[in-house]
Order: sequence, then C-alpha cells, then structure tokens
Amino acid sequence: MPFISDTLSRVKPSPTIAMTAKAAELKAAGRDVIGLSAGEPDFDTPQNIKDAAVAAIAAGKTKYTAPDGIPELKQAICAKLSRENGLDYTPAQVSVGAGGKQTLYNALMATLNDGDEVIIPAPYWVSYPDMVLLAGGTPVVAETSLQTNFKLTADQLEAAITPKTKWFIFNSPSNPTGAGYSREELKELTDVLLRHPHVWVMSDDMYEHLAYDGFEFSTPAQIEPALYERTLTCNGVSKAYAMTGWRIGYAAGPVELISAMRKIQSQSTSNPCTISQWAAVEALNGTQDFLAPNNEMFVRRRDLVVSMLSAIDGITCPTPEGAFYVYPSIAALMGKTTPKGTVIVDDQTFANALLDEADVAVVFGAAFGLSPNFRVSYATSDKALVEACTRIQTFCAALT
Ligand SMILES: Cc1ncc(COP(=O)(O)O)c(C=O)c1O
Repeated sequence: MPFISDTLSRVKPSPTIAMTAKAAELKAAGRDVIGLSAGEPDFDTPQNIKDAAVAAIAAGKTKYTAPDGIPELKQAICAKLSRENGLDYTPAQVSVGAGGKQTLYNALMATLNDGDEVIIPAPYWVSYPDMVLLAGGTPVVAETSLQTNFKLTADQLEAAITPKTKWFIFNSPSNPTGAGYSREELKELTDVLLRHPHVWVMSDDMYEHLAYDGFEFSTPAQIEPALYERTLTCNGVSKAYAMTGWRIGYAAGPVELISAMRKIQSQSTSNPCTISQWAAVEALNGTQDFLAPNNEMFVRRRDLVVSMLSAIDGITCPTPEGAFYVYPSIAALMGKTTPKGTVIVDDQTFANALLDEADVAVVFGAAFGLSPNFRVSYATSDKALVEACTRIQTFCAALT
C-alpha cells in the first residue's frame, strides 16, 4: 500500500517556487544569476503597516482570533469593497485566510465533488489547476492566444462550459501575462455566464491595484450585479502592499459558502496570524499614497522590459495592462541551437539554457499552460532588468 495519498500523485510542486529556489542555489554557489522569476514586489512593506503590527504586539494582540478573521479586518474589507468596487458585503460574507492562496483553496475544497469541472483560462497562475486537483475536481483549461493578448473570448468561455462546470476562475490583471480585461471585455464574459446559472465565478483580484496607463480595474460582481449571488470576490494585501510574507488574503461571497470555508479553516490552520491581521487593517484603512508612485515605477520597468525584449529577433512581447509580469512568445526561436549545443525544442529548454548559459532565471510557459513563452517578473531594480534583458538579447543573438 503506497504511503503517500493518490491525490498527491496528481499534483506537482509549484514551478515558480522551484525556479526561484534554483536561481537562489546558483547564486549561493557564487554565480552572478539575475532572478526574474519571483512573484513579489522588491520594495519593503510601508512603514505605517509595520508600525501597526508593532503596536498590535505591544498591545498583546497575539492570541487566537475567530478562525476566519477579526471583526475589525472584516469591516475594513467590507469598506474597501464598497469604496473601491461598489460592492456591498457584510462581515458575515467575508473570509480571511493565510494569503489569497488559502482562501482560494478553501473555496475549492468547500465546493468541489468528484467530476466537478473548473474552467481555468490559460495561461494561468500555476496553483489553480493543482488546487482543483487537490480538492477532487477536474481542471478544464481554456487556452487563450497572443492574438487576443491572452484574454479569453466569450466564444471560448461558452465552448468550455458543460453541465458539470462548477466554477469559472477569472484573474485580471493576470499572473502570468499582466493582461487586464476592460469593462467591455469582462461584460462579454459575464453575459455568457448569465446564460449558465449553474456556473459560479471565482474572481481573483490580487493584482487590482497594479494597473497602468489609465486601465480601469473591474470585477465580475460589479460589472454584472445579477452574478453577485454566485460570485466569490477574492483579493489580498500581498502584492499591492508588498506584504507577501505576512500571509493575509480574503474573499467575499454568499454566507453559505463563507461558512463552509470557515469550517475548513477552523479544522486546518485556524486563524491567520493575528499580528498580520492588524497590519492588514492598517493596509486597507490607512493611506494609499504609496500606490501611485509604486505604479509609476512599475510602468517604467514594464516599458523598459517590453522594449528591450521586443528588440530581439524571434521574440514577441505584448504590453500588458497590469501586474508586474510580461509573457513573451518565443515561437520563432523553436528549433534553434544555443552556443553550448542545446536545441531549443520547447520553452522549458529555453528557460534552462538561459539560466545555464546566460545566468538569467525566468519561468517557462508550460508551467502556466501556454507555450512556447516565458514569464518575466519585472519587480526588480531597473539596473538588474537592463542587465538581464541585455543578457537575453546576447543569448538570443547567438542562437543558430
Ligand atoms: C493570481 C494570484 N492569485 C493569488 C496569489 C496568492 O497570493 P498570496 O501570496 O496572498 O497567497 C498569487 C500569488 O502569486 C497570484 O499570483
């Protein structure tokens, strides 16, 4: 009898974490590796948020809380959803978890039965399909293309829906492409969903605040109020507030679903870190002044990376609306050979050769379900980005 469960055999470890770990290992061994694989901002958590955490410790706010969040944080989340998204939720409709990851996972665990299908547009955040598999469901991957800047069309969504569909996972701006759906593009998708009342919407709004060039963020329950009763609006403080390590994410939706998610959390991890919850109250209620200058910096970096990668023969790199990723296509480089003799047969060989021969770490597209591409995270210094893109240029120019 195998010791490890059958469920786990269907799941793979996160390739983004693996690539980041490999780059760190090479760096520790003395190699001058530039990492463009990590999905987190390179700047520090704002001081007012850190101060709130220190104050929470000093005030003895260090004990267990309600399993899915303190009332003050749930209130702050309701106020945020009302203020920024025009969505009315009560604290009983809010669940707080250890990162966006836990709330998404809880929702899938709480709802999926054997054979239930979950539509995931590709390229996707690496964890969606594996979370669905862990929860006993079936991921149904709906591929997008470079032609639509990696955005799912209404026809593609319609074609993916079956009587077994339970969830449609929507992520805008997206990890890994940075693509953000306009209100019109999202409305086309919500119109399809209106015709299929058995399909629920899981909207992962994690990159909401990282939106550029006047792009107006919108979320499904806001665009189509008729979907409110079957939408889980998910978000968190990790990315916009540079709080990846604090582990606070949240979701808002119907009470029945939120209660089911609470049940899971109460029997697995209990409450997310109490101190982090108080820090998140400050993140949501406190000043938002640092968001605009941060975004200016991200736009500059995005434009830098897009222009340097677009200058490479064989690479096509769309300009995304948000997040801190670009997802260039390398279709024209397939079949070429590196100076060390590696034939590039797919995006994984490309990424491995780039690391081995040019000391740049990126994540290969197959990890995100759409190839041949690679993901660059530009949440690093301008200097490192220029050096990394120069190395990619030199590497590609040497391919034969
Ligand atoms: C699209 C998306 N959703 C959710 C998460 C999870 O965020 P957290 O660190 O809060 O768990 C990430 C993190 O990379 C992400 O990219």
